Amino acid sequence: MQKLAIRGGAPLHGEVRISGAKNAALPIMCASLLSADSLHLTNLPDLHDVGTMRKLLQQMGVAAATAPGEITFSGDRIERWEAPYDMVKTMRAAILVLGPLLARFGDARVSLPGGCAIGSRPVDLHIKGLQAMGAEITIEHGYIHARAKRLQGARIFFDLVSVTGTENLMMAAALADGVTVLENAAREPEVVDLANCLRAMGAHIVGDGSDTITITGVEKLHGASHRIMPDRIESGTFLVAAAATGGSITLTDTRADLLDTVLEKLAEAGAQITVAGDTIHLAMNRRPQAVNVRTAPHPAFPTDMQAQFMALNAIAEGSAMVVETIFENRFMHVQELRRLGASIEVEGNTAVVRGVERLEGATVMATDLRASASLVIAGLVAQGETIIDRIYHLDRGYEHLETKLSRLGADIRRLK
Ligand code: UD1
Repeated sequence: MQKLAIRGGAPLHGEVRISGAKNAALPIMCASLLSADSLHLTNLPDLHDVGTMRKLLQQMGVAAATAPGEITFSGDRIERWEAPYDMVKTMRAAILVLGPLLARFGDARVSLPGGCAIGSRPVDLHIKGLQAMGAEITIEHGYIHARAKRLQGARIFFDLVSVTGTENLMMAAALADGVTVLENAAREPEVVDLANCLRAMGAHIVGDGSDTITITGVEKLHGASHRIMPDRIESGTFLVAAAATGGSITLTDTRADLLDTVLEKLAEAGAQITVAGDTIHLAMNRRPQAVNVRTAPHPAFPTDMQAQFMALNAIAEGSAMVVETIFENRFMHVQELRRLGASIEVEGNTAVVRGVERLEGATVMATDLRASASLVIAGLVAQGETIIDRIYHLDRGYEHLETKLSRLGADIRRLK
C-alpha cells in the first residue's frame, strides 16, 4: 500500500493551478447517459474516481474517447443499465447513474452503497423522489431495481438537503413528462455546474443555485460541450495548507466566489487574501488564530473543509469549536491528529481544539478523503517526519497532490 512521507516545516510558496472539480465531474459524466449524442467534457481532473466513473459508463456501453483532461462520451450504444456492487462500493457517486438510466431507458439496477467511513449515508431520498415521479422500485439482492414507462413530473420536497439526491432527480426530471419542482434542493455550485451542462444539452431548468429548482422535461437531449468548474475544495485545501505553514501562495484557474465562507474564515485566522480574476493570493505572516467552524449545506461552511480547518486550529493560537452537522461520524481524523500532538476533545458532533505550539511527526492512517487532506496539512507543519498510510483516499479526490505540493516547496514523497 502506498504511503506519503512528509518532512514538515517548510512554508508553501509559489503558484498552483486548481484542477476541475471532482464533485462536478462525477454527476456531469453521468449526464452522458441522457443522450445518444456526444458529450464533450474538458477540465476533467485526473483522479481515481473519474477513472472509476468512466469505467462504469463504458461497462454500460457508453463510448469514451479520452485525451489529457478531456473525454468525449457517446451514449448511442448503451445496452446494460446496471451499476454493479464492485464499483458502487468504491465510489458512492455511482448512485448518480440511477436517475439518468431510468429516465432514458425506463429500467435501472444500481447496487445499494454500503456503509462508509463518515457515516451510514443512505439513499432513501433518491428513491423516494423517483417513486414520486412514478417509478416502481424494489430492493432485490442488495440492488435497487427501478422501472418506469416514462417518468412523470412531480413536486418533490427533500426532508434533508442532499447534493447527489438533487443531482439525480434533476437529471431524471430533464427527460420526464411535465414539470418537476425540487424543494429544499441543494444549492451547491456543483449542482449549478450540472444544470449548466444539462441546459447546453437542451434541458429546461430554472432556479438552480436556489432551494427551488424547476425542470420542464423534454423528449430528447442533444450533444454538448462543457468545461468542468474549478474544484473549490482543492482550492480551500491549498489555502489552508499555505496558512498553516505561514506561506504565501497564488491559486490560478479558480473562483473566489465559490469560496466565500472559507475565505472569511481564513481572513479571521489572520491570512491576507487578495482576489484578482481567476486567481486567489494568500499570505500568512503570523501564527494563525483559532477559528470556530460549523458545517452546513451551501452557502454555509462546507463539511468537505472541516477536517482541514481542524488541522489549522490544531497549531493555532487559542481554542476553537468545530461543529459537524452534515455527517454523524466525520471526526475520524481527530485520533490521528492527536498522534501528532494535537489537543482535541470530541463530544457528540462538536470538537474543541486547543491550539498547540507545534505538532510532531508520527505515522498516521488516512481514513477518508478529506481526513487525509487534514493529515497532509498537519504533516506539513509538524516537526520531523510524518508518514501517512492508506493514501488511496487522497488519489480519489486530489489531482497529483504531492507533485503540486513539492512545486510549492514542500518536502513530500510517495513511498511505493
Ligand atoms: C456530496 C458530496 C460530498 C459532500 C456532501 C455534503 C459528491 C459526489 N459528494 O455527497 O463530497 O461531503 O455532498 O456536502 O458530490 N442523506 C440521507 N438520505 C439520502 C441522501 C442523503 O439521509 O438519500 C443524508 C446523508 O447521510 C448526509 C446528508 O443527507 O447526512 C447530506 O448528504 P448528501 O448531500 O446526500 O451527500 P452526498 O451527495 O452523498
